[in-house]
Amino acid sequence: MMNSLSRKDWMPEAYRKTLVRQMSQHAHSEIVGMLPEGNWITRAPNLRRKAILLAKVQDEGGHGLYLYAAAETLGTSRDEMIEALHSGKAKYSTIFNYPTLTWADIGAIGWLVDGAAIMNQVPLQRTSYGPYARAMVRICKEESFHQRQGYEIMMHLAAGAAEQKRMAQDALNRWWQPSLMMFGPPDDQSPNTEQSMRWRIKRDTNDALRQKFVDITVPQAEAIGLTVPDPELKWNEARGSYDFGAVDWEEFKAVVKGQGPVAKERMAARVKAWEEGAWVRDAARAHAAKRAAAKQAAE
Ligand code: 3HC
Repeated sequence: MMNSLSRKDWMPEAYRKTLVRQMSQHAHSEIVGMLPEGNWITRAPNLRRKAILLAKVQDEGGHGLYLYAAAETLGTSRDEMIEALHSGKAKYSTIFNYPTLTWADIGAIGWLVDGAAIMNQVPLQRTSYGPYARAMVRICKEESFHQRQGYEIMMHLAAGAAEQKRMAQDALNRWWQPSLMMFGPPDDQSPNTEQSMRWRIKRDTNDALRQKFVDITVPQAEAIGLTVPDPELKWNEARGSYDFGAVDWEEFKAVVKGQGPVAKERMAARVKAWEEGAWVRDAARAHAAKRAAAKQAAE
């Protein structure tokens, strides 16, 4: 087994840059990902659901923090990363540019979005950069809980009244394709995969993970009586996998470019939170400076 690199090890500059790109995008996805679900905390159907959702959204904030801290070990400051997000230079996952219209969307996000995230992130526990790999271990444990809580919401809705089942199916219909897009463009159109696989930053290709996700998720939908919205979906005995219909890559490209249905709202909410938190950062810096001065005076 290959040893992972630590921050003190020599590394090619391009390797460092790729890591900062991927890890910071990942961190941004975690914190932007708090928004669509945060939107439902005050409208959760009961206290139990509200407490669970609150904890989940808090976990995502924690994931963002581990990932920013891990990316900072590569010499890029958190302020630089946040600035890149706010100016549109850095990306975050396309999935968070879609609106959460009903409570069933919270189930679908946990089941499909966190499910897709785990599929991508379990192999990242063996990524070649140690601080990233170690952050992934805890993140994967929590994402796995998130996936189950989402599936449990869907299970209840699908077994409920006709209107609840309709809501669950509608959420699956709207989130299925965007979830497949989370894995990134097809391998033959992915400029970074080959090099990242060679560096062992990525351990699987985008298409391989997408296929794994489809193969695991389709039987889960069937088990609760929901239908995956893809007329071309078919078990392929020879491959031991599902064949599935084409993903709308034009839509993906538009969303990556910032044209997603709620992209503007998401970025406005992030910028507002950053600006309104300025006093907390100032207070923390002032406190740290005061402590450092007191320590120096005592020496
Ligand atoms: N959304 C936005 N941008 C995407 C994307 C997506 N779903 N998929 C690909 N892209 C971008 C890439 O970042 C790249 O652009 P860049 O060169 O400017 O950075 C371009 O499209 C081409 O794609 P590649 O396949 O060549 O890029 P990568 O090799 O980086 O692969 C990836 C893309 C598979 C998403 C990879 O970056 C990755 O594994 N990232 C870590 C995991 C991650 O970021 N997950 C976010 C999911 S959400 C999440 O985890 C939150 C949880 O709470 C649900």
